[in-house]
Amino acid sequence: EKGTYPHFMLKEIDEQPFVIRKIIQEYQDENDSIKLDEDIRQAMNQTDRIYIIAAGTSYHAGLVGKQFIERLSNIPVEVHIASEFSYNMPLLSEKPLFIFISQSGETADSRSVLVQTKELGHPALTLTNVPGSTLSREADYTLHLHAGPEIAVASTKAYTAQIAVLAILAVDTAKAKGINLSFDPLKELGIVANAMESLTDQKDAFDRIAKDLFDTTRNAFFIGRGMDYFVVLEAALKLKEISYIQAEGFAGGELKHGTIALIEDGTPVIAISSQENVNLSIRGNVQEVAARGANTCVVSMKGLEQNEDRFVLPQVHELLAPLVSVIPMQLLAYYAALHRDCDVDKPRNLAKSVTVE
Ligand code: F6R
Repeated sequence: EKGTYPHFMLKEIDEQPFVIRKIIQEYQDENDSIKLDEDIRQAMNQTDRIYIIAAGTSYHAGLVGKQFIERLSNIPVEVHIASEFSYNMPLLSEKPLFIFISQSGETADSRSVLVQTKELGHPALTLTNVPGSTLSREADYTLHLHAGPEIAVASTKAYTAQIAVLAILAVDTAKAKGINLSFDPLKELGIVANAMESLTDQKDAFDRIAKDLFDTTRNAFFIGRGMDYFVVLEAALKLKEISYIQAEGFAGGELKHGTIALIEDGTPVIAISSQENVNLSIRGNVQEVAARGANTCVVSMKGLEQNEDRFVLPQVHELLAPLVSVIPMQLLAYYAALHRDCDVDKPRNLAKSVTVE
């Protein structure tokens, strides 16, 4: 039930801090350490390469998850779009582990990869919001997202839940391998939940920014580098699917290799800057488009902000920044769609779970 909310999407955006706290609870043992199935731990420990398979928003969460697993637990990870993987399987490593990420657990494109990999005899772990779902039942192991039912077609809280669970999985794997980390995901996720709450408490700001950026535009660009690049891909997908504005996410440095030709007077370009190592370079990219008339909007993280930024996010651990920077992107898409009288919860041509290939 939506209760007092006008749309499920807005309710689900607001639920994100609670979902993160629920995940902390569910994945914490009595000693405040990570609680995870021993079988999953072993599977992570035995693999020489992880293949993450997903579609849409879940694919975007997988891109962030790859960074966690590679940087923290030192296992190489490939992230693949399910519908491509099934027809164009890459050369596999000797001991692959497949991780399927799926809110619904019913996505046919992902299921067809699972069927193929089972035939080859490879182990599979599914991260899903629906434990009894097909992808959960047919995989060897399941990690539950605990996001609660997601009703709006545009995925919001499942994305942040996927990223949070992937962070926990990556750290648990690192620990099991004896890698010494100073990063405590459960503690850092607590900080993230509070940061998320402060953002969902400032909806009016995003309503106003959305009005300025999107009310009269035909297209929009989102740019970021490193971790922020993965979030801008998700930002563009969110805006496209519910507001029907043509939107693309780009790696900041890639714009000048072609796409910058599309920048005109007033073209909205939204940049995320949450990663110290690319803060100056993404700002250089923003200047390039501003010089060509773009209506720019930088959303930065506290500590990296500059005067002209439109919004400064509360500071969280750099690795977990996507969990926080995505909230303004979800809200911008929501308000853009609302201002255009779109059917926010049920955008045209889309279904909540895509059970055909
Ligand atoms: C976007 C969206 C879709 C899904 C995709 C995968 O907001 O909802 O892109 O993320 O269809 O769905 P699941 O995660 O259920 O496999």
